[in-house]
Amino acid sequence: MRAAPIRWLYVLLLALATTQAFAQGFPEKPITLVVPFAASGPTDTIARLLADAMGADLKQPVAVENISGAGGTVGATRVAKAPNDGYTLLLNHMGQATAPALYPKLAYDPLVDFQPIGRVSDGPMTLVARGNMPARDLKELIAWIKTNGKNVNFAHAGRGSVSHLCGLLLMKALNVQMTPVAYKGTGPAMTDLLSHQIDLMCDQTTNTAVLIRSGQIKVYAVTTNARVPSMKDVPTFAESGLPAVALTVWHGLFAPKGTPKPVVGDSCLRARVRILGLDVSRD
Ligand code: MLT
Repeated sequence: MRAAPIRWLYVLLLALATTQAFAQGFPEKPITLVVPFAASGPTDTIARLLADAMGADLKQPVAVENISGAGGTVGATRVAKAPNDGYTLLLNHMGQATAPALYPKLAYDPLVDFQPIGRVSDGPMTLVARGNMPARDLKELIAWIKTNGKNVNFAHAGRGSVSHLCGLLLMKALNVQMTPVAYKGTGPAMTDLLSHQIDLMCDQTTNTAVLIRSGQIKVYAVTTNARVPSMKDVPTFAESGLPAVALTVWHGLFAPKGTPKPVVGDSCLRARVRILGLDVSRD
């Protein structure tokens, strides 16, 4: 065998040995889990559950850092540009996939600049309103929306967020224009819904279920094809004649491109996600 190939073999073996050693020692310091939306919202809630479980399992703290803005693309950019050593991760949802269509100057390519680790959760969305909304059911709410049109404001977490996409699907299905109000996340938006500053919001059950049960907000429909087990009385949009308003929100864990396979793969992070995968449809 000629000298050059042996040298490459040596380099390859060295790289492999280093990566294996690196993976075996991983993690040696705390991990940062970036949430691209404000604290107290659904993505933040899922991230903190995952961070606690992963931290306990990996025996290193996993710290959640909220970097919000522009429908989640500010936080995603931070991770796309972060060192690919496994210590900076991103929890994002399907907004990761829709961002290129809505942000022509996006600073990353979701298909190229990230190493997907695993799907963490799937969950329904609910159409909710302020607690003093006069409408008793979806039929009355649609009539109220059509009567008030642009005077109806609905909250969302920025262009391309799932609360925004759901609101757009609703407006298209009803052929009515409401007034969108952008927040850094549906966590802060919920504060304004609770104080009746906002009329409507389409948000994940992770963030709405408890407030619906306590009667602080009203619910009119869910976006999944089947009713949600914990709120059987709430109709689906599909059975209410609006099948186009259909959304199940997936959340996934991502690392920067080039993060060593042994770190993101089955022997490490991916295995943890598989074990700890959260079922948020039973809220
Ligand atoms: C959040 O955590 O605020 C939501 O996931 C944002 C969104 O509606 O996309």
